[in-house]
Amino acid sequence: MAIPVILDVDTGVDDALALLFAAAHPELDLIGVSCVAGNASLERVVDNTLRVLALAGATDVPVAAGASRPLIEPARDAGHVHGADGLAGVVLPPADRRAEPEHAVEFLRRTILAHPEPVTLVALAPQTNLALLLRLHPEVAANLARIVFMGGSAGVGNATALAEFNVWHDPEAASVVLGSGVPLFMYGLDVFNHVAVPRERAQALAASVEPLPSAVGWLLDHRIAAPDGTPGDYLGWIGDAGAVCSLVVPDALRVERLPVRVELAGYGRGQTVVDRREHPGEDAAHGLTTEWATVDVALGVDAERVAGLFLDTVVPGA
Ligand code: BDR
Ligand code: CA
Repeated sequence: MAIPVILDVDTGVDDALALLFAAAHPELDLIGVSCVAGNASLERVVDNTLRVLALAGATDVPVAAGASRPLIEPARDAGHVHGADGLAGVVLPPADRRAEPEHAVEFLRRTILAHPEPVTLVALAPQTNLALLLRLHPEVAANLARIVFMGGSAGVGNATALAEFNVWHDPEAASVVLGSGVPLFMYGLDVFNHVAVPRERAQALAASVEPLPSAVGWLLDHRIAAPDGTPGDYLGWIGDAGAVCSLVVPDALRVERLPVRVELAGYGRGQTVVDRREHPGEDAAHGLTTEWATVDVALGVDAERVAGLFLDTVVPGA
């Protein structure tokens, strides 16, 4: 039976790739999408999400708009990464429908509780919606199989030298999710930064006359600009889509169950501290007490296999 999945997105170049994969893979049942500000404004994220789902032919998947800013701080601009429109200039026709009338938190509550099977919630964005959901309606935890989140890192950051964007954008929200008691799977930069499509393949897709392969090619070929606007090199990352692929091919990832916490202060704000020591717990001997969540952390990936799964699913034969 297909896995019931809800995606929480800030579409976003690679959220778009994730939506296309989730809508296309037969082992996934995409039962809803919630939107949050992150890569672009909430309004833009909702519009992009509806357009991408229309491109996928998934116009029956409900979409709900959630938080327009993080819990505490104002929303930040990620235009240098995803373009001013959040889709790196890839123009998709407007969708002929609107988001659900209810707030994403209420949509998530209702959808999760109504489903006959435990739902997998995949967070590909700042975790503001999830934190609000888990605080307002903790009863949903009983019908969540797990939360799979793209976020954090056991090593290098991207938004700062230490912090990954999704966690950095709303660290308090990520901290609430880590403390929720729901089983957690972290698809962080340790794997996110490795799953890529070769440049020639992306450019061949971009040259297609068919709208879907063409859009996928352009999304893969978009370059992350430097802060001064200089376009970056080709990366070809499938990004957030890799976290959704991990639901289908869990054995393509090397995973360790590790203590994780979020740093909330100073330059390290938004860093996920992943305790990889041989003998954790010495902190207590030094008088340091802190709360750790136990998280399945992806530390390695068969990148070729995951990228191949993505292409075979989203653009078969193209
Ligand atoms: C994450 O932030 C966004 O740029 C991407 O969509 C991804 O979810 C990577 O840090
Ligand atoms: Ca994202």
